[in-house]
Amino acid sequence: MPSTLIVYATTDGQTRKISERIQQTLRASGLETTLVDVGTASALDPAGFDGVIAGASVRYGKHDPAMARFLDGNRDAINRVPNAFFSVNLIARKPEKRNLEGNKYLRKFLERLSFRPMHVEIIAGKLDYPSYRFIDRIMIQMIMKITDGPTDGKSVIEYTDWDQVDEFARRMAEAIASSNESARQSENSDAADPDQPGKQGN
Ligand SMILES: Cc1cc2nc3c(=O)[nH]c(=O)nc-3n(C[C@H](O)[C@H](O)[C@H](O)COP(=O)(O)O)c2cc1C
Repeated sequence: MPSTLIVYATTDGQTRKISERIQQTLRASGLETTLVDVGTASALDPAGFDGVIAGASVRYGKHDPAMARFLDGNRDAINRVPNAFFSVNLIARKPEKRNLEGNKYLRKFLERLSFRPMHVEIIAGKLDYPSYRFIDRIMIQMIMKITDGPTDGKSVIEYTDWDQVDEFARRMAEAIASSNESARQSENSDAADPDQPGKQGN
């Protein structure tokens, strides 16, 4: 059974919630999954997985630097298998900000990485004024005012489009399953080919 590593960086839990939903879809597609916070991901070797999906939220324009270190540090292993990075932020509540051209946070994050994800997805997060510290609430209210969003300090709005998350997870499940199947077939044909040096039948 193909196995997938899902790594997330979250502050308030929304990126973890999205990661858990991705995990459910992958499992329903017959894939094994391991879900970890980026803080504990260094204990794992991504080379042991058939696919890697990583996600991080944006705070004040930036993704968690621990995620950048994880992706750069494991670049070669991750590049060998189908992989994706998803970004969670509030400007993505606007559809035109859900692509690379429209989302400067993700563009800047990727520019600084030596790793290039095979697929990127931009997912809207959650606005939760009552749970924010005073200074954060004021700052987010200012950002929302500039971008025509809600400024009522009591607002709690989950903008995440769960259909988008499910579709993203299904596409990744297909890519991982089919790449794993191709790798298995090529191993089998190598093993059966007596002309291959060092293989069975040689
Ligand atoms: C302190 C703070 C700063 C944020 N900065 C940004 C930002 O610069 N741009 C943006 O689009 N969203 C911003 N957000 C919104 C978060 O990206 C969004 O709430 C997301 O769902 C958080 O995901 P998490 O719970 O996984 O950390 C910010 C949220 C907080 C609390």
